[in-house]
Amino acid sequence: MAKFSDIKGFVFDLDGVITDTSVFHSQAWHQVADKVGAPWSKELEDGLKGISRMDSLEMILKAGNVSDKYTDDEKVDLATEKNTNYLKLVDQMTPDNILPGIKEFLDDLKSNGYLISLASASKNAPKVLSKLQLADYFPEIVDPKSLSKGKPDPEIYLKGAELINLNPEQCIGVEDAAAGVESINAANETSIGIGDPQVLSAADVKFNDTSEMTLANIKNQMD
Ligand code: G6P
Ligand code: MG
Repeated sequence: MAKFSDIKGFVFDLDGVITDTSVFHSQAWHQVADKVGAPWSKELEDGLKGISRMDSLEMILKAGNVSDKYTDDEKVDLATEKNTNYLKLVDQMTPDNILPGIKEFLDDLKSNGYLISLASASKNAPKVLSKLQLADYFPEIVDPKSLSKGKPDPEIYLKGAELINLNPEQCIGVEDAAAGVESINAANETSIGIGDPQVLSAADVKFNDTSEMTLANIKNQMD
């Protein structure tokens, strides 16, 4: 693991880290799972975190053993329906949906001169950030359309570091998903996992929830 003093920037996941939208994604996917007759479980719910829209749909169809039952066009329709339902939930969001301590943490990063970028697989990330009134903190956002592979591949976290002109070793990546932690580790960045420590066992630094994530607590677990 890198030394805390080497760290110059933070690359953030969005859903489940900055805001509670992972619950909205789950709610909308659960509806799709019911529609196609796939069983919903905690494992499936956790496994979908950080996974792109179409890959998430494929995972749900696979869980229901119905991958071959839908044409490509029907799959696009199912994913579009999910996104429409998800966006209805996003539309009601306000800055109250920022997870505990995140605003303070971002302010602390800025005042200490750390660089910040966003590595979310979500095509809705700019919209969510603007609902939260946090867009100004994230001038650098990896465009998920530019990726050839999603999480757990390292590409998205490597791009997150590149956008702020840092080497991966100078960056900390922050995630709530096992696939995301894997992506950060494969990119050679230091990983913070927020949530169930068993699901996120591969993370270098672990917190149960966002309110515990402070520079002092990170330094403590690294040095
Ligand atoms: C994030 C979320 C996933 C979501 C993915 C794509 O990684 O954790 O749950 O499926 O983004 O999001 P989108 O908003 O583009 O469908
Ligand atoms: Mg996430």
